[in-house]
Amino acid sequence: MQQEKKYIPFEQIKITDRQWPDKTITKAPVWCSVDLRDGNQALVTPMGIPEKIRFFHTLVDCGFKEIEVGFPSASETEYEILRTLIEGGHIPDDVTVQVLVQAREELIRKTFEAVRGAKNVVIHFYNSTSTLQRKIVFGKDMDGITDIAVQGARLIRQLTEEEVARSGMNIRYEYSPESFSGTEIDFSVAICEAVMQEMGSSKENPIILNLPSTVEMCTPNTYADQIEYFCRHIKNREAAIVSVHPHNDRGTGVACAELALLAGADRIEGTLFGNGERTGNLDIVTVALNMFTQNVDPELDFSHILDIKKVYEECTRMHVPERQPYAGELAFTAFSGSHQDAIRKGYEYMKNSGTEYWEVPYLPINPADIHREYEPVIRINSQSGKGGAAFVLQHTVGYNLPKEMHPEFGNIVKAAA
Ligand code: KIV
Ligand code: ZN
Repeated sequence: MQQEKKYIPFEQIKITDRQWPDKTITKAPVWCSVDLRDGNQALVTPMGIPEKIRFFHTLVDCGFKEIEVGFPSASETEYEILRTLIEGGHIPDDVTVQVLVQAREELIRKTFEAVRGAKNVVIHFYNSTSTLQRKIVFGKDMDGITDIAVQGARLIRQLTEEEVARSGMNIRYEYSPESFSGTEIDFSVAICEAVMQEMGSSKENPIILNLPSTVEMCTPNTYADQIEYFCRHIKNREAAIVSVHPHNDRGTGVACAELALLAGADRIEGTLFGNGERTGNLDIVTVALNMFTQNVDPELDFSHILDIKKVYEECTRMHVPERQPYAGELAFTAFSGSHQDAIRKGYEYMKNSGTEYWEVPYLPINPADIHREYEPVIRINSQSGKGGAAFVLQHTVGYNLPKEMHPEFGNIVKAAA
């Protein structure tokens, strides 16, 4: 592969004495699932109404309190799905449905029609702000782009006040400077401040400012720098809930989300198993279970991970890869003999010592915590050693082979494998 130097490297932002590298994650963020919108729009066959309803209930069962259900002004199907959720009484009182709309008048009006009758709603509006999009898609300068956002904000505020007066609906606002990851950071701050001003955001009524890594542009530390810079420079920080929405173009969506939490983000938008445009969105299951293994309650329940995977695969017709963290078929399988031996010793140690901790080499989580069996943890192939064969014999049929017999038995199994 010849390197022609045709790519423009990401320009690091200037941040002094960054704080995030010394932080740890100590509490769960606010989670928002965008499976039914960002995930759905990226499917070869988008979900129909029955699939979306089934998926919605699964998300509710997992504990999501904020769920982006679609883009109701984008198509009749999207509109119908939202109406079915509302009219069919599918939305629990403590769950907020979020709807996405571009900052464009006719689309905003249609969105307000679509949410009629819902109890708690987030109106999520966006326009694209990056250098590249301004140059080649919109042909506008920073003022022109700010104007789109502010006009949209003004109309949304007006329609909200009318709707609240009519029905008492609980409406909150979310603004995304789409393509934030490729936007000059001071412009991102400025456009968000202009939107906050227009919305009258306050500590009591904060706006969600969602800062998407619409396209991953560099290593995850640079996204963390962007988030920390934003949090430190935005005026009236307490009047905003800072949200992140990483995509996975460089394969580091999960890392971006985790480092963004260190950098001050309050909220994460993502999808189950990382479904989404191109290489996907950040995988919420992985981030949540990573927290769980650090004794931080993720406040989402993925304890029946294989049931959730089944619903996901049936509704989206996507496949969760075998090596996907936590959920992949092979996530808790060791083929190598030395790994098998260490795992077997770990289980034995756990049993004999009565330790209160999870101390099994090669297994960062107890598979039983997510209702995965420990029996298939060890599988045998031609690379496996004597320990693995003995373990399987012990755990499947209860024969505890004397240690002296392990090599002989292991060789028999190896030959057969
Ligand atoms: O990835 C993105 O930028 C989005 C926005 C619409 C929030 O999905
Ligand atoms: Zn997205």
